[in-house]
Amino acid sequence: MGTVKRQPWVVGVSGASGTPYAASVIRALLAAGEPVDLIVSRAARLTILDETGISFRDAHWHADLAAWLGSDEGLDDVRYWPAGDFAAGPSSGSYPAKGMLVVPATTGAVAGIALGLSKDLLQRVASVTLKERRPLVVCVREAPLNGVTLKHLVELDAQGAVVLPASPGFYAGGSTVRELVDFVAGRVLDAVGVPHSLYLRWEGELGAAARRADENGSVSAEGE
Ligand SMILES: Cc1cc2nc3c(=O)[nH]c(=O)nc-3n(C[C@H](O)[C@H](O)[C@H](O)COP(=O)(O)O)c2cc1C
Repeated sequence: MGTVKRQPWVVGVSGASGTPYAASVIRALLAAGEPVDLIVSRAARLTILDETGISFRDAHWHADLAAWLGSDEGLDDVRYWPAGDFAAGPSSGSYPAKGMLVVPATTGAVAGIALGLSKDLLQRVASVTLKERRPLVVCVREAPLNGVTLKHLVELDAQGAVVLPASPGFYAGGSTVRELVDFVAGRVLDAVGVPHSLYLRWEGELGAAARRADENGSVSAEGE
């Protein structure tokens, strides 16, 4: 009878190095037919600019996102919320989000989420995600980690978040930057059960993924 409600994944991009991880996650969610609600922190504009040369602007987010992802395919399934907009849909637990992926996550975002600071929309939606007992994945990027961040990460784990370091594995046969980025993005999607073909899975045989990658010329069906 009723219409099917749109149930997006919220992707929160904070200002850590590693914006390609976010681009890969967004591309793969859209490829899987999953709607995306996107929040880009103010600091993330600097990292996007630094790592891609793209100025990410609230007023031109659609064009800027298309430039960042390298395509506008699937962008009709993306809703963008400015980081200062505390009236945004996902800031309420009644908004039908499936969960949230913070990728990459700064140590600042880790602290703010662990302590419930809600200093911007990204942190507010993460807090809402936890209180609603929805899946929250925090893909932290920093090296080395200081003691206070380690404590915040333990706190996030205790609250039910998945702490997923932006730490590529090499057992999947990846050798290009894109393949290593896609490995991390694939592990983020694994954490919430979204299907993808971003990396070759371990099948119990040493060296098998590298051999398959050699045969296919790539580890990823979606790789370039
Ligand atoms: C180019 C650049 C790279 C950065 N890389 C990191 C990083 O890898 N990890 C991190 O925790 N902070 C990093 N920062 C610092 C954060 O952007 C800064 O702490 C900011 O306040 C985080 O705000 P946010 O959590 O609201 O995005 C970087 C900053 C810049 C300009």
